[in-house]
Amino acid sequence: MAAHNENRSLERNELVRQLADSILQTAEPLIDPETDRAALDRMTDDIKERLSFESNVLLNEVVTKFSTGRAPKGAEERPERTFERFGKNFRAQHMLMIVSVITLIITGMPLKFPELGISKFIILTLFGGLENSTLVHRVGAVGLITVGVWHLGYSFMARVGWRDFLLMIPRLQDIKDFIRTIQYYIGRKPSGPKFGRFSFIEKFDYWAVYWGMIIMIGSGLIMWFKEYFSKFLFDIGREAHSDEGLLATLAIVIWHFYNVHFNPEVFPMSWAWWHGELTEAEMKHHHPLEYAEIIAEEKEAIVSEAEKTAATGGSES
Ligand code: HEM
Repeated sequence: MAAHNENRSLERNELVRQLADSILQTAEPLIDPETDRAALDRMTDDIKERLSFESNVLLNEVVTKFSTGRAPKGAEERPERTFERFGKNFRAQHMLMIVSVITLIITGMPLKFPELGISKFIILTLFGGLENSTLVHRVGAVGLITVGVWHLGYSFMARVGWRDFLLMIPRLQDIKDFIRTIQYYIGRKPSGPKFGRFSFIEKFDYWAVYWGMIIMIGSGLIMWFKEYFSKFLFDIGREAHSDEGLLATLAIVIWHFYNVHFNPEVFPMSWAWWHGELTEAEMKHHHPLEYAEIIAEEKEAIVSEAEKTAATGGSES
């Protein structure tokens, strides 16, 4: 079976090359003679790369969906397969974080901008005075500290948490992906990078929150228990808290909300935070390398099962 697969793979590569040539030959009479040849060469490489990637993924998809026995349960009956992106534990952390951070922003910002009408409305009308609003701020703070400790435990003790933590570590590939994205946006590359489980954008989002939490919790505790700290440390803590608080609020409202709400590809919002799942189409579009990896692993399992069955002459079944 291995020799058969190898021959087929060579045949597929040849077909991919022919298909790429056919696309270019069909387009040739319509291409502006003034076209920059280097750009056209880049496009040619891109076409070959895309066709080759898709043909491998499609092969694995056909095997995983239609082979006997080991196909994922229900793959044929369901219109579309879903993939778990976030488990229950992670979603619960995220929900507590949403509630805590919104509470902290609503009760923190009026302290930074007390002169604004909306600040007076929030503190006086909504909470009935400064004492209540600062108490609610502390309740939100306990929520955020809980998330921080919970997430640390999850990252270092849960199998999935540790796997995701390792995948979140920035790599050289992220810099290459960033450069490729910019090249794509300015028209120097015909397509953008392909992402795995976490893109450089998601990694940036994650580490910004990580860093922000350390600063906000650290400086918040200094202000909360000021009797244990010098005036010098208190002043630094307050300044850091006030500035990082505004930065965190803007990062959430502009960066995070754009990525998960206002981006036309997900508008009005990605529901992954609620049910934790992505459809097959979403996986292919947003995390094609992770999708290719999952499908390739499933196909490998099916192939080795088939080889085992063939070796035992099908006596096991
Ligand atoms: C996203 C998270 C947070 C935001 C956006 C936020 C925002 C703010 C802002 C803008 C202020 C006013 C600072 C000023 O006077 O200029 C403030 C005050 C304060 N914050 Fe936070 N904060 C957050 C998290 C925390 C945490 C985690 C703690 C505690 C561990 C905390 C404790 C305090 C305390 C003690 C004050 C002083 C006012 C008071 O007595 O309530 N904050 N916060």
